[in-house]
Amino acid sequence: MRFVDIIEKKRWGQPLTETEIHWWIEHYVKGELPDYQVSALLMAIVLIGMNVEETFALTMAMFHSGATIDLSGISGVKVDKHSTGGVGDKTTLALGPILAACGAKVAKMSGRGLGSTGGTLDKLESIRGFNCYLDKETFIKQVDDIGIAVIGQTEDLVPADKKLYALRDVTGTVASIPLIASSIMSKKLAAGAEIIELDVKYGDGAFMKTADEAEQLAHMMIRLGEFCGRKVSAMITDMNEPLGMAIGNALEVKEAVDTLCGRGPEDFTELVLTGAASMLHQAGLEPDMQTGRRMAKEAIVNGSALEKFKAMVKAQEGDVCQIENTDLLPKASCVTPLTARKSGYVRQAKALELGRLAMEIGAGRERKEDTIDPAAGIVLGKKTGDYVAAGDVLAWVHHEHPLEKEWEERLYDAFELADEPVDKKKLIYKML
Ligand code: URA
Repeated sequence: MRFVDIIEKKRWGQPLTETEIHWWIEHYVKGELPDYQVSALLMAIVLIGMNVEETFALTMAMFHSGATIDLSGISGVKVDKHSTGGVGDKTTLALGPILAACGAKVAKMSGRGLGSTGGTLDKLESIRGFNCYLDKETFIKQVDDIGIAVIGQTEDLVPADKKLYALRDVTGTVASIPLIASSIMSKKLAAGAEIIELDVKYGDGAFMKTADEAEQLAHMMIRLGEFCGRKVSAMITDMNEPLGMAIGNALEVKEAVDTLCGRGPEDFTELVLTGAASMLHQAGLEPDMQTGRRMAKEAIVNGSALEKFKAMVKAQEGDVCQIENTDLLPKASCVTPLTARKSGYVRQAKALELGRLAMEIGAGRERKEDTIDPAAGIVLGKKTGDYVAAGDVLAWVHHEHPLEKEWEERLYDAFELADEPVDKKKLIYKML
């Protein structure tokens, strides 16, 4: 087989065969195909697309490109969740412990932040000593014993995605439904859980810009999971503004802990309870969503969800004192309020720009090798639909270094104000 024929075939709009797709992935992982040729194929896929059969073949080829995790030694129902990424998304930190407190086994592999999007591992590592790198046996034992472990993806899991995603990141080939669906689902399948909940985001701060695109992506991922005998459900959620109020690693851990104590922001609490209700129902642990939601709320009220979070932090060598007293989490030396210059109603607190601004003061990384400041970030004072009087705090900036004037101006511009009242945003657009 000649790779150039495969590239040309796709370029002329013809579907690739299963054999061609498996050949391409196998040889790329072995280092036998150059990045420039693979980039050309990826761009052709972005522009032409892939049908369901091709997407399924690509997912399977990637899934089988490395090791898989066998969770069969864990008793109970193994669940996993995935968010397509966004600003202020600390869902795993609250949802995971609630599910574990309600009897599910949460075996979760998470990633790091890049660009405006945060990553769960970075958030957890803002807890002193937290170890994201357990070996497979320890990971499985911890999930079996306490019901939850959150770790970094092991090196040998889906190596095809590691190579391809790094290449897509620098060749403008991320935004493609078949490529995103196969990338996410190959990892979810390899991670072994039977029940998978997807949070597919749309809007300014997400890969998918519209709810329709997010829904198409979700349907494709559900089909891929179901082909492989997994139960997959999805929430289509808004990412035009950050989730919750906090953006930044330690700030988000604090917000997740607050939520587990029953005093989280309304939108974030709603997402967590709905996600928990759906997963508990899918897992057969509760008869319907309503009961699932009640049990999830109960786990917050009776403190069992917070206890699960503490048990996980302790098992993974983190400092539990910082969870018992979140004032002990890393703190920035300066907290600067940004006040409104005029009155109005918030039309949008722009997710993408707020995520970028937080990254620029150290809360995220522009390139993979950048280091992050766990204490840095932005806490919103107002969100879409809120009334703002001149002088009210729009946001608090947690920072180490002096803020540049131009950065502050961009932060003002990230809050779009209207003279007329604005409806609050509907966070959960659809459940699939
Ligand atoms: N997240 C992934 O893991 N892969 C993608 O392609 C996009 C988002």
